[in-house]
Amino acid sequence: MNVTLFGLGYVGTVTATCLAARGHRVVGVDTDPGKVAAVNAGRPPVIEPGLDELLAEVVGSGALRATESVRDSMQSSDLSLVCVGTPSAANGSTDLVQVSRVSSEIGAALAATKRPHTVVIRSTVPPGTVDAVIVPLLEAGSGRTVGTDLHVAMCPEFLREGSSVTDFFGPPFLIIGGSTAAAAAVRELFGFLDCSVHVVETRSAESVKYACNAFHALKVSFANELSRLYRMLDVDARQVMDVFVQDRQLNISPAYLRPGFAFGGSCLPKDLRSLLYLARMNSVDLPVLEASLASNEMLIREVADRILLAVDESGGHNRRVAMLGLSFKHNTDDLRESPNVALAEILIGKGLDVRIHDPVVNPAQLSGANLRYVQARLPHLHKVLHDDAADALDGAHVAVVSSASRDVVDAAVAAKPPVVLDFNGRLGTPIETLDGYEGVGW
Ligand SMILES: NC(=O)c1ccc[n+]([C@@H]2O[C@H](COP(=O)([O-])OP(=O)(O)OC[C@H]3O[C@@H](n4cnc5c(N)ncnc54)[C@H](O)[C@@H]3O)[C@@H](O)[C@H]2O)c1
Repeated sequence: MNVTLFGLGYVGTVTATCLAARGHRVVGVDTDPGKVAAVNAGRPPVIEPGLDELLAEVVGSGALRATESVRDSMQSSDLSLVCVGTPSAANGSTDLVQVSRVSSEIGAALAATKRPHTVVIRSTVPPGTVDAVIVPLLEAGSGRTVGTDLHVAMCPEFLREGSSVTDFFGPPFLIIGGSTAAAAAVRELFGFLDCSVHVVETRSAESVKYACNAFHALKVSFANELSRLYRMLDVDARQVMDVFVQDRQLNISPAYLRPGFAFGGSCLPKDLRSLLYLARMNSVDLPVLEASLASNEMLIREVADRILLAVDESGGHNRRVAMLGLSFKHNTDDLRESPNVALAEILIGKGLDVRIHDPVVNPAQLSGANLRYVQARLPHLHKVLHDDAADALDGAHVAVVSSASRDVVDAAVAAKPPVVLDFNGRLGTPIETLDGYEGVGW
């Protein structure tokens, strides 16, 4: 393809070089004359292992050249790749000046040609930027409408400085946000990559990049917080983490990474509190782990407020709420520290008429710590617990569905309460198509 690449920084120089090395004809555009001159002289403007030789080779063969002139670069271009900077503004927001300027420039250059064109955003931009900022500028500049002879895709970049050439050729995946036509152009551009391709909504593609970087930051802080405590306890954190990462079932895995309701149960809150106690005894602050408990409690309060608001918005006459699922997770009757029990406690305390059904929980069979916990929290459980999901749902304004049991879901679909709050996320159709359906976090 004939590719115009905007921004010859770390991402842009590596991308331009590697694309040229895989058979594309690439023109790199940068406003910095020093970078343009360096590339045209066969010298990378950034230091990256393996880049020197590759860049010299592709510039030598004519597959890559650089320019400051947008118009010159766009004359026979099929696809623009935007790799300009998106630095932090003073208040922490993303400075979109470079992205906005480039979008206007590409738009203006497209006004002078009739060639169909795809614009691919590689820069990291906040969710909504492509639709709210980039597309309007491209359309205004070019006089074209996205979807006809102009297509736009978001395709976040995952390379790391220091290993960017290797990372470019071996990415974890290719994420494409945009229409089928835009995705087809991106697939063609990266056709030489051997990785999975995920075509998602544009906003999701924008958001994945932030999720990745936030997670990486969280992981570093997690390992370092543990090591600061373990050092005080005479534990070698390197050994702990070496074995920790060997668990690909629960630790380094999709487990515990599904959006949903708060965590609970007999282990997570207890053991986290125990670690935090040890930290206090050793004068070690663990703000990330501390925040995890606070964040969990915040979610329970937020959801309680949402339910109270839904009841108020209905005029407040129908204060009945059906909770379908009470234990801390599906298929267990362990109620200890269940966030659903905490939620029920709040809602009952606020005067709502809470009716609970859990296909697994049978009060007659609860015993030991489990029984003591629920007696302390929900002493009238037997009065609010219903054997039948339909009874719990009868006349309810809000249904809170955490159980994925078929009977429970079918009963909720049949009852069609005005508000259905899904804590599970995998209930699928038909419940997700109900008028009042809302996900707890989606
Ligand atoms: N650096 C990384 O490791 C990395 C990894 C993945 C994603 N990203 C994202 O990729 C984007 C680029 O990052 P970077 O580190 O390469 O940035 P950078 O600051 O190194 O490079 C940006 C380049 O864009 C040029 N530029 C600015 N306005 C221009 C315009 N109107 N026309 C042409 N060129 C213009 C600048 O002169 C500069 O050379 C950012 O959004 C960043 O968040 C970076």
